[in-house]
Amino acid sequence: MTDRFIAIIGGSGLYEIDGLENTDWVSVDTPWGAPSDAILTGTLEGLKLAFLPRHGRGHVLDPSSVPYRANIDALKRLGVTDVISMSACGSFREEMAPGDFVMVDQFIDRTVARARSFFGPGCVAHVSMAHPTCGPLTDSVAQAATQAGATVHRGGTYLAMEGPQFSTLAESNMYRDHWGADVIGMTNMPEAKLAREAELCYASVAMVTDYDCWHPDHDAVQVADIVRTLTGNADTARRTIAHLPALLNRQKTPCPQGCDRALDTALITAPDK
Ligand code: ADE
Repeated sequence: MTDRFIAIIGGSGLYEIDGLENTDWVSVDTPWGAPSDAILTGTLEGLKLAFLPRHGRGHVLDPSSVPYRANIDALKRLGVTDVISMSACGSFREEMAPGDFVMVDQFIDRTVARARSFFGPGCVAHVSMAHPTCGPLTDSVAQAATQAGATVHRGGTYLAMEGPQFSTLAESNMYRDHWGADVIGMTNMPEAKLAREAELCYASVAMVTDYDCWHPDHDAVQVADIVRTLTGNADTARRTIAHLPALLNRQKTPCPQGCDRALDTALITAPDK
């Protein structure tokens, strides 16, 4: 049995985590280039943790420039078994208010300008994305967030847009009224797809910063509104991480959902090719 090794990919506002012991910033090279930044590794009460700031320290990478393949590959090379994505999002639901955490269980991928697979000509694979997040990992993170004092919504559809501009009102209304999206962000895709291809369990915490532009009682989102809410969300995220060691086994057991075996049924290229 292998050690469980949890990676946190931190979004806007979350550029480091506290309390890690035996820390090291590790630079990892991959065939897909360099990841967003060096990766902070360490242990928290004996639980192996890695932290990767998705936009780089100082927030230097826009959502389209994040090297998603290098990030996931670097984590896999380090021996990571589970990825917890934490990212800012806008909300399409009145009850999902700024400051709340939404445990994402579905995605709609509207990104258009990002490399989205490790596979391609020469070796073709089609992994299932029917259930894109890992249920058991999501349950543990939701419990940790609740213990950290967050208002947690279990289940939500995340619309991943390309950006960097925010949505038009027509898009916002369409995503919300007709497509059934609950939150919107710019970074969880293709990250979730790549985590599945890398056979990593993946959970996503969408931390609400705004109501995008559909809400009649709120002005259209601006960066200043996001930044105001980000600091509080990042504090709650750090407290959530602090609760994880009490909730997660130190050993990696086979994922009941099969995230760690996603390629068993995905490869279509003949073995002799
Ligand atoms: N990230 C935070 N708020 C957002 C919004 N309204 N749209 C897209 N990405 C976001």
